[in-house]
Amino acid sequence: MKLFIDTANVEEIRKAHELGVIAGVTTNPSLIAKEGRDFFETVKEIISIVGDLPISAEVISLEANEMVEQGKKLAALGSSVVVKLPMTEEGLKATKIFSELGIKTNVTLIFSSTQALLAARAGATYVSPFIGRLDDINQVGMNLIKEISDIFKIHGITSEIIAASVRHSAHVIESALHGSDIATVPYKVIQSMTKHPLTDAGIERFLADWEGAKQSVF
Ligand code: E4P
Repeated sequence: MKLFIDTANVEEIRKAHELGVIAGVTTNPSLIAKEGRDFFETVKEIISIVGDLPISAEVISLEANEMVEQGKKLAALGSSVVVKLPMTEEGLKATKIFSELGIKTNVTLIFSSTQALLAARAGATYVSPFIGRLDDINQVGMNLIKEISDIFKIHGITSEIIAASVRHSAHVIESALHGSDIATVPYKVIQSMTKHPLTDAGIERFLADWEGAKQSVF
């Protein structure tokens, strides 16, 4: 399973990219608004950091033709831009058009496997089921990842599943075990994934032993 970073904060993207662990970036209107910067400038800066890794940038219109206009402007920023579209009838129409134009899409706000199937059939490059928001309403988000993954495997569907709305590292592991292609993860979750108390204790012990032996190789 690949990891994307889910943020519009360029410093977080830079730090995660330096770790060598991310294969893409996802943003959404809330994440862009949180940064308080120009949308297009932000996407350009993200491209300058991650190069040709896929970067999802979302349209805000609810009408298909307008979505296509907005998406074309985003796609013109670079071939790595993936147009993110909401899972609605209008979003599906726009997905079909982008698919015919050879522009990559990420259909977002997916909360059922029927929505994922429709998005895939409309030609979505990526489908984004939101697991955390399902957990929030006492549904098991992970069941959706498993269901979509099974359906796509049985029917040879090539749209990639992005486990989205990831809240903690257990979501990442469960997404991997349930067949997600990608998990898009906030920076703080990437940081928490690096940590284990036994790693810290091990480093402390190694350094103490080294100091005790009075070695001077370095
Ligand atoms: C994914 O593409 C979305 O940007 C994101 O994962 C939403 O997560 P949230 O439910 O934490 O807002």
